[in-house]
Order: sequence, then structure tokens, then C-alpha cells
Amino acid sequence: MPQFSDSFLTELTEKNDIADVVSQYVALNKRSGSNLFGLCPFHNEKTPSFSVSRSKQIYHCFGCGKGGGVINFIMEIENVSFPDAVEILAKRAGMQMPERQEDPESRKRARIYALNRDAARFYHEKLLSEEGAKCRDYIDRRRISKKTATDFGLGFAPDKWDSLRNAMRDKGYSDFDLSDAGLVKKGKNGGFYDTFRNRLMFPVIDVRGNVIAFSGRLLEGDGPKYLNSPETVAFTKGRNLFALNLAKKSKRDYFILSEGNIDVASLHQAGFDSAVASLGTSLTEQQAQLLSHYKNEILIAYDSDGAGAKATTKAIGIFEKLDVKVRVLRLEGDYKDPDEFIKAKGADAFQKLIDNSENRMDFKLRQIAEKYDLNRADQKAEFVAEAEVLIAALPSQAERQVYSAQIAEMIGVRPDAVISDVESRRKKLVRRSEAREMRDMISRTVNMRRYENPASAKAEEGIIRLLFLEPGLYRTVQLPLPEEFSDDRLRNYFTVITEKLAAGEAVTVASLGAGLNSEEMSALVGIAEEPETLANSRKTFEDYVSAMRKAARKKSIGDIIKEKQELEKGRK
Ligand code: UTP
Ligand code: MN
Repeated sequence: MPQFSDSFLTELTEKNDIADVVSQYVALNKRSGSNLFGLCPFHNEKTPSFSVSRSKQIYHCFGCGKGGGVINFIMEIENVSFPDAVEILAKRAGMQMPERQEDPESRKRARIYALNRDAARFYHEKLLSEEGAKCRDYIDRRRISKKTATDFGLGFAPDKWDSLRNAMRDKGYSDFDLSDAGLVKKGKNGGFYDTFRNRLMFPVIDVRGNVIAFSGRLLEGDGPKYLNSPETVAFTKGRNLFALNLAKKSKRDYFILSEGNIDVASLHQAGFDSAVASLGTSLTEQQAQLLSHYKNEILIAYDSDGAGAKATTKAIGIFEKLDVKVRVLRLEGDYKDPDEFIKAKGADAFQKLIDNSENRMDFKLRQIAEKYDLNRADQKAEFVAEAEVLIAALPSQAERQVYSAQIAEMIGVRPDAVISDVESRRKKLVRRSEAREMRDMISRTVNMRRYENPASAKAEEGIIRLLFLEPGLYRTVQLPLPEEFSDDRLRNYFTVITEKLAAGEAVTVASLGAGLNSEEMSALVGIAEEPETLANSRKTFEDYVSAMRKAARKKSIGDIIKEKQELEKGRK
């Protein structure tokens, strides 16, 4: 992947100190030695095992094994490709990006963006045209203003089989372009027809301003209420949110997460301009992560029905893992969604709901309480048991006491009883989770090192580590041959590293990043992070090489014995 020169990548990594970059995502503390430590953003943990080394410019999690340089970190945490990560870092450091060599996929993506933009314009013009009258009527009936329609770039897909297709072909797009974008479908007779017909069109725009997809609401007649673009190279449903492009600019310091496109339009119109919706899927982890990059508080305003409550519980679970503050809005009265509420009661009343919204604990405790009849002794006991489990999971003792007192009051008992119950549950929970963390760590370490010839592999790792830490050895020692490596992956690291050194290039995590996938990278960093004495590195290196050769001989003697035994077995 010789897309960026080594000198460019070197400058990039020099200008983006890994500790500074990681600090934007993870709170790092100094603990021991020169490494900084924090809670790993890639797995759930309570004690920090995520380390960042300024001197080596790498990160490594001793818990989950992930590791790499600053570019890998951005790839992992932002969920982007290598070139995209480079671009983010270049921007951060104020560096000019080199001309990108266009790969076929990004060319295709750019083509879809251009086509989608033209299609959005087409739909919008149709909305304003004579043909669009009935769609304008619909918009009026839903009390969406002209301004809102323009802000969202709403449009109308005419009730014909080929109106978008013809217009786009006139502009020079082919059926293949249209089909790549999901705007046409192939019929049984082999011809193409418009995907969206007789629908109110909502363009879906990403945070960079690209039109990545459409969501079309049926105006009348049969068919699914909403139709969304299929997944394309430009659009992955679970990674995008409707109206995030607008909401991220809002001055409010929380997002309002609702279910429907119409809710979002209606909320923005009423001044709640931080509203977003997750496009016809229940909220995914990637969507939550995306939101958390812009604001660290979310107000969930899902529909008031049972499905909405279920979806809320699920979303709370996702945000909890991300350390995002969650509040839950309760629609009072018989209103099914924010849109209905606002239209009936107005913006001020909705703001009151926001001010009175519950935090996640209030919401969860109420959900549990609603399952039981708290006038009956047996049900009271069940309620308390279930609520205590929840409260025991809270890390803050003060919070545990507050909620213990709260549920004690709900069932009319003294708080002390509940508090002491909760605290003893808490102790058990902590013991269990510590044991689990330890077990996970051990099993990961064991899995990481499942080599066929462990003795040889250990020496091979040492060879790689030393070349990585002391590249100068390349010129001063007798290198083993790649064929002497017993493990394929280790051989691959060795080859990649020695090729770089042979070309006189620096062996940095950054420069290796392009040639290795994230798992290989993590394993390599794991190897480099093992303690090593560099006092007499030449001798150590030679020791590793002879240990590797000795292990290979042992292995072959073992093989010979085994083969002999099998031969004898065969004779019998
Ligand atoms: P809703 O049915 O609540 O739609 O679905 P809505 O946007 O509130 O519209 P109105 O007010 O009933 O007219 C919520 C969201 O679920 C997705 C859409 O993104 C919709 O906005 N959805 C719904 C689909 O993807 N497909 C469907 O068939 C229905
Ligand atoms: Mn709805």
C-alpha cells in the first residue's frame, strides 16, 4: 500500500504525539515508569490496563491485547480505514495531504456522493413543481414548514417508474451508477426502475456533508411506510444517524435521540435542533460511539409505547459502556411520540419535559416497579431484590445510598436494611468481576501464545523485538533466514521489518501499520512491549538465534521419533 511516502508518515507521527492524541479520547494518568495508563477504550474494564509509551510512540492494552501506533489508534477508535486515519491526523497537525491515489472503491464512493447530491436536488425541485402538489399537501398536513423542508432538503419522488432514472441519465450517470447508489433496481425483464416512487424523500447527510442515502416515506397507498437506501459503499446503516449533520452544530450540550424522521423534523422546527434518529434500526454501538464524539449527554425521546421503552433500555445499556450521560424523556399524556406532543402542547411544554427528564436509574427503577404490585408483600420483596441488583452495580457509594433510600421509601421499610443488603451484594459483585477480569486476561495471554513450537517462537519473538527496539542490529549481526522461523506470522513480521531495514527505512509502528492488519499490529506491539534488556543486545540477539535453531533441532528429533512410531504402528 505505497499510498503515502515514509517521510510523510514519519512527519505525521512526529507531529501527532501519541499521548496527546490518545488523551483526546482517554483520560491518562502517570503511574509507573515512563508509561501513561488509562481505561482501555476498546474493552470494558474497571482497572486501567491500557498503556501509552511516549518514548516508543505506541499504545498497548495488557487486558485485550490491542496495540499499535498513533495511526492504528485512530483507525480503531474512529472506525476508519488507514488512509482516512492519516487524513484525520494530517488535519490535526495542519499538514497538507499528498494527492491521493484513487482506489476503485473511493472512486465509486465519490461517484455515489455526486449522484446522490444531484438526485436530492432533483427530488427537491420535484417537491416545488406542479407534480409535487400532493406531497406539499402532505407536508402541510404534518405541519412541517417550508423553512424546515428546505433546511432538511426534503423532496418528492414522483409516482412513476423512471423519472429519477431519466433525469440522471440525462446528466450523464449510467444505470450502473444508479444501481450502485441504490437509486434504481433491476426488474424481471432486465430493465432498471426507480427505487423510490410516490414518497416524501429525506436525504441522509453525513457529518462531512455528503448525501449518503435516502429515506422515503410513503404518501398513500400500499407498501412499507418507510423505504431506506440499501447499504452501498457510501452508506452503512448502523454507522450513521439521520440529521447528525445539523444536530452536531447545535448549541445544546446534549443530543435528543428519537425514533422517527418526522419526529426529528418536528423537533428541529420547534427549536430542539440537536435531535437525531437512528435510521430504522435500533441504536447500534457504532452510532452511539459516533454521537459520543460530539456530545457527552444524550436525551432519549423514543415513542411512548412498549417498544419504545424496550428500545430505551437497550440504548441505555449501550451508552453506559461509553461513559455517556443519559437522560430519558417521559411523554406525559396520551402522546405517542415527540412529534405528536409538540404539535399538541408546544415547544415550551416539551422543554419542561426535558427539564423533568429522568436519569437512567430513575428510568430503570420505574420500569422494574411497574412490573410489580407494590401493595402486596411478596411482590414488594421481588421488586426490592431486582432493584438491589441494579443499585449494587453503581460504582459510587453515595449513589447506592441515595437509591437504596429511594426504594426503601417506595415499599415503606427503613433505609438501613436496604443499604446493608446492597453493600453486601456490591462486595460479591466486585469479587466476581475482579475474578473475571483476571480470568479473561489469563485466557487472552494463553491464546495469544498458542505456538506450535513454543520454545522456538519465544526466541523468534525476541529476534523481532530486538530488531524493533534496536534497528542498528540489522547491520551488525548475522541475521537468520526467514525460513528458519517456525511461526508464519512471526516470519511475516521478520520479513516486513528486515525489508524496511534493507531499504534504509526506519522501523516505526506507523510505517509498519500499512502492511499489517489490526490484529497483527496488536500482536506485534505485544511482542515489542515484553521486557527486554538492551545492555548487550548483540549477544542477546545471537542467543535468540541459537535458541531458535536448537528448538528447531529438538523439534525435528521429536518429529523423527514420532514418524518412527507411526511407521511401527503401521507395520503391526
Ligand atoms: P415510525 O413509524 O414511528 O415513523 O418509524 P415516523 O417517522 O414517526 O413517521 P410518522 O409520524 O408515523 O409518519 C420510525 C422510524 O423507523 C424507520 C424510519 O426511519 C422511521 O422514521 N422505519 C419505519 C423504517 O425504516 N421502515 C418502516 O417501514 C417504518
Ligand atoms: Mn413515530
